[in-house]
Amino acid sequence: MKITYVERIVAGMPAHELEQVKKLCRRSTGETFKAFLKHTCIVGYRGGKAVSMCVVSRTSPNKHFDNETNGQIVPYLYNFICDYKYKKNRISLDLMTYVKGYIAAMYGGASPINLDVEVENINAQNFFIKNGFVESTRYIVGDNKEYIGFTLRAPCSI
Ligand SMILES: CC(C)(COP(=O)(O)OP(=O)(O)OC[C@H]1O[C@@H](n2cnc3c(N)ncnc32)[C@H](O)[C@@H]1OP(=O)(O)O)[C@@H](O)C(=O)NCCC(=O)NCCS
Repeated sequence: MKITYVERIVAGMPAHELEQVKKLCRRSTGETFKAFLKHTCIVGYRGGKAVSMCVVSRTSPNKHFDNETNGQIVPYLYNFICDYKYKKNRISLDLMTYVKGYIAAMYGGASPINLDVEVENINAQNFFIKNGFVESTRYIVGDNKEYIGFTLRAPCSI
């Protein structure tokens, strides 16, 4: 299945693309799409419809990963979302491959990658572990939601 990827700074997303991203986020997570305007949103389209997405920033929200403590820039992923209806087509794996390629191009092939997953979200944790990520920290936000921080330590290559 051919997926076409579009990379946009969130602030510069055309309204119809933003609308698709909001819908994808809503139907796949039940939550409202939230992202910082300066971050990059990568969206996978199939037949004109957004089926996968991920937002990439230059640091984690609170720089809470050990590999950031000396001011290093380590790309951080959030809103990594795939339309459940296309699960059997492995769009999550396709998106991961694309994102790794994007980060290798933007940050260099040896860059690690960080992300957080809610402790209850076992499916996502297993997906990232399958793709080379390892648990690297724990993170609790104000509302007492607990997250596991995962890092892809191996050089980011595809
Ligand atoms: C997290 C999420 C993207 C994972 O996608 P998923 O499709 O559920 O992931 P899966 O682990 O089932 O992987 C899909 C298939 O690709 C396969 N796969 C995944 N990584 C693979 C790899 N590196 N090599 C080979 N196959 C792989 C899986 O085995 C699976 O195949 P199967 O259906 O035959 O078992 C998706 O569940 C989602 O959008 N969740 C809601 C948002 C969310 O929680 N995001 C994470 C926090 S940002």
